[in-house]
Amino acid sequence: MLEERLRETGQDHIARLLEHSAGFISSQMLRDDLAQVDLSLVMRLIKGDLLYKEPQKRSVEPAQVIPASFADTQEAAQYRDHGEGLIRQGSVAALIVAGGQGSRLGIEAPKGVVGVGPLSAKSLFCIHSQKVLALCRKYRTTIPVFIMTSRANDVQTKAYFSANDYFGLDKNEVHFFTQGMLPSVTPEGRFLISREGSLFMNPDGHGGTLTALSKNGCFDIMRDRNIEEIFYFQVDNPLVKICDPIFVGLHSLSRAEMSSKVVRKRSYDEKVGVIARINDKTRVVEYSDMSDDMRYATDETNEMLYWPGSIAIHMIRADFAENLTREGLMLPFHRAEKMIPTLDSNGEPVEEKGVKFETFIFDALPHAQRSITLEVLRDEEFAPVKNMTGEDSLETSRSMQSALYRCWLEKAGIIVNKDVSVEISPLFALEQTDLLSHLSDIPDRIETDIYLKGPDEQGQ
Ligand code: UTP
Repeated sequence: MLEERLRETGQDHIARLLEHSAGFISSQMLRDDLAQVDLSLVMRLIKGDLLYKEPQKRSVEPAQVIPASFADTQEAAQYRDHGEGLIRQGSVAALIVAGGQGSRLGIEAPKGVVGVGPLSAKSLFCIHSQKVLALCRKYRTTIPVFIMTSRANDVQTKAYFSANDYFGLDKNEVHFFTQGMLPSVTPEGRFLISREGSLFMNPDGHGGTLTALSKNGCFDIMRDRNIEEIFYFQVDNPLVKICDPIFVGLHSLSRAEMSSKVVRKRSYDEKVGVIARINDKTRVVEYSDMSDDMRYATDETNEMLYWPGSIAIHMIRADFAENLTREGLMLPFHRAEKMIPTLDSNGEPVEEKGVKFETFIFDALPHAQRSITLEVLRDEEFAPVKNMTGEDSLETSRSMQSALYRCWLEKAGIIVNKDVSVEISPLFALEQTDLLSHLSDIPDRIETDIYLKGPDEQGQ
């Protein structure tokens, strides 16, 4: 019986709440939540089993990174062609992970609905969808989009797409799937009650993607559709080059199973994970797991040695991902200490120190026999919205988008006044070279803010 099992596992306070339901508790919700919890798994996590352990490092080396300048070489053309071929034949899917709680941003809605367009205030979901739509038009193909949500934002996310007519995408090509949840616990390992009077749970991390794809039948859809490659990215980066053909081509022609994009770290102390070779495997070393020796290591020219910062953009071969889940993949869990909005024993709202258990997608990297790492320029591809203010905020993301689009115009020979904000819709131009066929639609000199939108775009 549930109450007994709870007592055996040290959750007496929850058993008591079920037996003598306090007014602020919804026993049914609590029971429903508990029915989804794998108590044995959670107890192992609380005991410290299944947690990520730093590998005993026999060898630590920098990863081999294809430099950003490669894209401009003659040799890159064959990779781009191959990537374009795969996109054109419909073998590439886009996967957006959008199940996170966006707690640093502190908004109630799913992060994907936040308006990030510098002038249009278009949402992240809108920008990503329009990029996919533009790719489908450019390559006369279909690109299925898989969107991972979590219990907290699934209904709102689906409603948002539906209310916006899927931003022009074919709704049959948009597949939502929901990730797993795990109870958050106090530092002593006791479950917490949410403000709604049910169990406080958190999504199981972006590493939950692979299991969630499997549980929700997404690999079946991919197999039916002959999808060979998955372009994986996070919802909060409006500059992501979805299905970047060079990246797709390099990854596929190298017969890699999982590959990554990186940017040069801004400083030794920038809080990003770094891609390195550890015991002959490519992996991401989290900022918090990095020793000072590794963090401050320099090369023979006195430059930062471990500079490739992961930006959570990956190519993942679909059969590799499916096989990992078939083999019962269990990625290691990481502990994150966070303040949790909960209720005290009188039902009063309080914030309590808690622990969340999460898995990370990049822990699948060492399972790949082959992996490539491609450097890209931060200014062109990475402007995440993580925080309310300061670094990686809405403000920095908007100004980076505007700066990039200004560069695109200037490269096309257009003079842009220095105080002007610029936005270019993916439906107007997906990349800089697309502008060249639209030059007659753009003034030669730009003195005021300019938003270039696609021919079939309404409103702003
Ligand atoms: P972050 O780690 O930045 O988390 O997620 P977050 O939820 O967006 O924000 P904070 O940390 O609570 O402030 C990076 C990406 O991974 C997704 C997020 O939606 C975001 O796109 N993610 C994260 C998931 O899909 N599921 C998770 O369980 C965690």
